[in-house]
Amino acid sequence: MTTLIKNYKIFNTNCYIYNTTEKFNLILTDPPYNINYNYNSYKDNLEWSDYYNQQINYLLQLYNSLLDSGNLLYLNYPETNSIIWTHLIKKYNPIKQIFWVYHSHSPSGKAPLRRGIRSWLWLSKTSNYYCDILYLKGEYRNPTDRRVKKLIEQGRKPIDYDWWNMEQVKNVSKEKTAHPCQLPLSMIERIIYACCPKEGLVFDPFMGSGTTGEAALKNNRQFIGLEQDKDYFEICKKRLSLYEN
Ligand SMILES: C[S@@+](CC[C@H](N)C(=O)[O-])C[C@H]1O[C@@H](n2cnc3c(N)ncnc32)[C@H](O)[C@@H]1O
Repeated sequence: MTTLIKNYKIFNTNCYIYNTTEKFNLILTDPPYNINYNYNSYKDNLEWSDYYNQQINYLLQLYNSLLDSGNLLYLNYPETNSIIWTHLIKKYNPIKQIFWVYHSHSPSGKAPLRRGIRSWLWLSKTSNYYCDILYLKGEYRNPTDRRVKKLIEQGRKPIDYDWWNMEQVKNVSKEKTAHPCQLPLSMIERIIYACCPKEGLVFDPFMGSGTTGEAALKNNRQFIGLEQDKDYFEICKKRLSLYEN
């Protein structure tokens, strides 16, 4: 297992030019989705073919940076991910697509329905991947049923579904930073508990406000993160400094 001198390293850089010899237990990332989103400095409006090539090539390249027991968790919109997935499974071991559903205040634009869904692609390097199933348990839907009551008394819980209903970070949330599309810490913590052993090394090449870093450090994992925007990088620096050892 890699041990960093400090428990984390972060770089204000473009991930596509960053080279590392580290091997990660978990690569967990949430890139720009190519929807012309209003980021500080990044222009989120590539030609779709360029975007797909960029994402797919980069994710395939990251395969070599995973430990044999390592996991990759990649967030995007389901329609984008369905295309990316078909390329990744030529190299990675496919595990699951997990759908994240949430309420949103965003307008629908010209669409007849509002968007309230994204998906995590979960893949691993080999079929012998790390997974602590304890953190992927759900709750029984009928806890008052006699048989279910018995199971609960025995400390049993059902395996959860491949869709998670969790709210987005709201402007009034305690955890909210100045980053415009911060992910909820509790969702990232759940993935880290389940997909990375204690002391393991987590990597996020599109760090944003540093949510992955905070979830890793708060739970005794190590972290390496990259963010190309200077102002967002400063948010990460401040956020993660609280966990420095
Ligand atoms: C969707 S946001 C990540 C938000 C993050 N998950 C959080 O919870 O705060 C994507 C981030 O990737 C950054 N980014 C875009 N292209 C990048 C690149 N080539 N290298 C590093 N960071 C990049 C953007 O500036 C943006 O902050």
